[in-house]
Amino acid sequence: MYHSKSILGATADFTTDMLQLSTSPFLKYPKRNTHKICFLIHSLYKQIMLKAMISTDKIKEDLRTRFIGRRLHVYDTVSSTNDVARALALEGAEEGTVIIAETQTRGRGRAGREWFSPRGGLWFSIILKPKIKAREVSRITLTVGVAVTAALNRQFNLNAEVKWPNDVLVNGRKVCGVLTESVTCDETVKMVVVGIGLNANVTLEEFSRSLRESATTLKEELKKEVSLEPLLCEIFYHIESEYVVFLKEGFAQVLSEWKALAAFIGKHVEVTVVGRKFRGVAEDVDEYGSLIVRLSDGSVKRVVAGDVKVRIV
Ligand code: BTN
Repeated sequence: MYHSKSILGATADFTTDMLQLSTSPFLKYPKRNTHKICFLIHSLYKQIMLKAMISTDKIKEDLRTRFIGRRLHVYDTVSSTNDVARALALEGAEEGTVIIAETQTRGRGRAGREWFSPRGGLWFSIILKPKIKAREVSRITLTVGVAVTAALNRQFNLNAEVKWPNDVLVNGRKVCGVLTESVTCDETVKMVVVGIGLNANVTLEEFSRSLRESATTLKEELKKEVSLEPLLCEIFYHIESEYVVFLKEGFAQVLSEWKALAAFIGKHVEVTVVGRKFRGVAEDVDEYGSLIVRLSDGSVKRVVAGDVKVRIV
């Protein structure tokens, strides 16, 4: 196996299968020519691989941002783009650096759940370094949710909505999830890694039966494959715009946009917090991104995003 890059299990490489194909020609040629043949075969496979890969050049052509996506790392396979991003951030990577992978072997979602990451999806993480307090980190998740939803609606004329705390829905089914992880010191945020998993060119048949009921993909909704690079650029643009509004003007503006896109404010919901369930009406989301649920006895519960599941009933 030839590795052109390797970080935390990341490879942008040629697989063993492909190299096996290349063994037979070696038998027919004198030894002195094998390096030339090897080079030719490598170039050929590289072209094939690059065709399949998300193109950094195409992204750079379309990019309309000042800092998000200006530094890009595109991998074929990583364990989790959030882990790669975190390692790069700790090594000093700049704010706005994006790590994209065609597939993840250990993609994760909220509350340690597995995140299915086959080829065709957009699996990426963004390094941010906002000057905020630890208790404000959930605001970043909501900010990114608004941005991804706006990007999908703009690019494809969809009617995507946000679902608390970190989902983007199309026709009531989850098309995207956001996983925000942070490093803090004394209540101050040192850096945030925002991981975004968007089921783009994935067919529903690839999902497990249980996921198929609640998930959807862009390919499924639009009945065609989408170009990944322009979509990424649109998402980067919206994330940067919303993030700058949040930092410069405060969270109120972003929160009101979030509420305007929210799928279930005012609806009856069932909330599961660490295995315990209760029902009520999802009344609001507060300035720290907590869900306010009114119970049948009139009392109010404030639910903090964490190991929480919410479903409309
Ligand atoms: C969720 O809805 O639970 C959040 C899912 C986040 C998945 C993305 S894919 C890119 C990044 N890397 C990961 O391991 N997870 C996030």
